[in-house]
Amino acid sequence: MKAIRLAAAGGLENLHLIDLPEPPAPGVGDITVRIRASSLNYHDLMVVTHPEAEGRDRIPMSDGAGTVTAVGDGVTEFAVGDAVVSCFFPQWQSGRKVPTDFAATPGDGVDGFACESVTRPATAFTHAPEGYSHEEAATLTTAGLTAWRALVVDGGIKAGDTVLVLGSGGVSVLALQMARSMGARVIATTSSAAKADRLRALGAETVINYKETPEWGDAVLAATHGRGVDIVVEVGGPGTLAQSIRACAPGGHIALIGVLTGFGGEVPTIELMSKQQTLQGLIVGSREHQEDMVRALGGFDWRPVIDRSYPLNKIAEAFALQKDGQHFGKICLTM
Ligand SMILES: NC(=O)c1ccc[n+]([C@@H]2O[C@H](COP(=O)([O-])OP(=O)(O)OC[C@H]3O[C@@H](n4cnc5c(N)ncnc54)[C@H](OP(=O)(O)O)[C@@H]3O)[C@@H](O)[C@H]2O)c1
Repeated sequence: MKAIRLAAAGGLENLHLIDLPEPPAPGVGDITVRIRASSLNYHDLMVVTHPEAEGRDRIPMSDGAGTVTAVGDGVTEFAVGDAVVSCFFPQWQSGRKVPTDFAATPGDGVDGFACESVTRPATAFTHAPEGYSHEEAATLTTAGLTAWRALVVDGGIKAGDTVLVLGSGGVSVLALQMARSMGARVIATTSSAAKADRLRALGAETVINYKETPEWGDAVLAATHGRGVDIVVEVGGPGTLAQSIRACAPGGHIALIGVLTGFGGEVPTIELMSKQQTLQGLIVGSREHQEDMVRALGGFDWRPVIDRSYPLNKIAEAFALQKDGQHFGKICLTM
């Protein structure tokens, strides 16, 4: 089978198309999956481009979706032909014992899904939502579940809430789509007028250009008659957190997700405290969270926005597009 191997950390030129033997037949509790699609995340971009990333000599990509081609003894949850999607933390099935690193995450600590076939424990996958293409399903492992966790699991979203999403990347656009379908209003930020139109077309009520309006937290307050938003999907990190705290309502929830602007910085703690907001760090979610999300998404009539898809051998071009920040929603790979 074809696969992509990251020969060394630190650059897209280190991604090589290679031939590998087919994976072994499934043992007890395993399934073999013909991988048909993956999707790019900022995390994958870091693994392949960051000079100090752990991902050397690794098959990249955390997201994988495809069809079950063989099942091992003892597997009752899946049958040959089922459409499945991988889990970001295969070792985190449920509960509060959360992983704190990426040692078992496909495409980081272990080989990922830039390949045509894998044999893994059945518990490393869930079913895909009914009616989803493999590319659409592949957007759910990382970006989809992160958006779901921020809004539903941790944010406790309810109809009538207002949600703030930052930028128009994978997590944010999926969060916008989920929030709208659950009866929430959405405010979005972006750096581009063209993307602002697309965010409005997906249902964002107010879109603020964060480059033209650096104090966008005040603009969010103005758009909500001074109240602020109930949930912030905070993908920016240190460069955006102060504005997110400003934009968030007293008693509101800030889901601290991203590192787009860096890895550490100052927090206006007195504003956070006096507004009695919850600031919760999160990393994706458990397999149980994914099962809940898959059940919910199957009932919605929208589909994840896929900006562009590339064949596996064009993985470096796909990452170059993401690095440029030109995309809207998700970029996918197909195999
Ligand atoms: N904790 C977790 O579990 C988890 C899971 C998934 C992702 N993440 C993190 O979340 C972040 C987003 O991930 P992603 O995969 O969605 O990335 P992505 O698809 O590459 O999103 C990039 C987009 O972010 C927007 N952006 C960049 N700088 C911004 C800023 N200062 N303010 C607002 N928006 C900004 C830009 O949107 P415009 O072009 O519209 O300006 C850009 O196109 C990353 O830091 C990633 O590591 C964390």
